[in-house]
Amino acid sequence: MSGRDPAVTAVSGLPFPLYRRGKVRDVFDLGDRLLLVATDRLSAFDVVLPTPISGKGKLLTAISDFWFDRTGDILPNHRTGKSIAALGLSRDQVESLDGRSTVVHKAERIDIECVVRGHLAGSGWKEYQSHGTLAGETLPDGLGRGGQLPAPRFTPAMKNDDGHDQNISRQELASQIGHALAARLEDASLKLFTHAREIAGEAGFVLADTKFEFGFIDGELTLIDEALTPDSSRYWDVKTWTPGTEPPSFDKQVVRDWLEERGWDKEPPGPELPTAIVVATRERYAAVLHRLTNVGSREEER
Ligand SMILES: Nc1ncnc2c1ncn2[C@@H]1O[C@H](COP(=O)(O)OP(=O)(O)OP(=O)(O)O)[C@@H](O)[C@H]1O
Ligand SMILES: [Mg+2]
Repeated sequence: MSGRDPAVTAVSGLPFPLYRRGKVRDVFDLGDRLLLVATDRLSAFDVVLPTPISGKGKLLTAISDFWFDRTGDILPNHRTGKSIAALGLSRDQVESLDGRSTVVHKAERIDIECVVRGHLAGSGWKEYQSHGTLAGETLPDGLGRGGQLPAPRFTPAMKNDDGHDQNISRQELASQIGHALAARLEDASLKLFTHAREIAGEAGFVLADTKFEFGFIDGELTLIDEALTPDSSRYWDVKTWTPGTEPPSFDKQVVRDWLEERGWDKEPPGPELPTAIVVATRERYAAVLHRLTNVGSREEER
């Protein structure tokens, strides 16, 4: 995870059909299982940038594992616990996939981004500023940018294949997928977020918001994809957050700020990133893992 390993931008040459290529993960079909490989691709504003962040896929995998390990009591997740060593791959292939790959159960995916917000940031802040609402529901007056909500809110979005997800209200969600399932998604999302926020707090982070994906595996509602990584969540350093501000985030803010300063129109292709931005971004991901793991080891000592 030194960052000196060659960057993995795309995975090819494996003896399995490609199931899906997401913005970050290359997913291969193993039958009733999937091989999920987190590459070093980085997306910002829903566009995959041409410059990879070497080592990022390994950091993402380790961060997801940290959270999957700590949320199993709330909801099962898609990991099988099987190693890639049993897939009949060459030693070189295993080496390049090691640390960034997970063998998971193939789920019947629910095409909803289950967003939970504890603070008003990003599109949540924009909506509140314009309409005084969040996901169409009224919020108290006078909340500031980055402000903590009285209680975390579930603000779902429909997954769109073009990458631009569409925010919907809880009522719209219920009419799309039924009241019972909508309620289960909300309940699971809020429980997961509330638990994670506590742990993140011990690690010195404000977990401002996150998004979960769920699916059904053998008829059971299951957490899939990734869990609470800086790609799916806003981590703020508790020291830099004061009400009324949206502090620089531990996630891709370094990249986002650089892109904004450059005046990029957010249409592909994105610009190449300078080395200093690549290094700073990798350090952000590594810091999240490091701080979370330190909390984890303190827990074990107790
Ligand atoms: N257990 C699972 N079963 C089925 N699909 C899964 C599972 N876990 C993850 N996926 C899907 O695999 C893909 C992982 O790729 P990645 O995380 O890069 O995608 P993304 O760019 O975030 O999202 P998407 O491609 O859905 O827009 C996602 O489409 C995700 O929904
Ligand atoms: Mg994803």
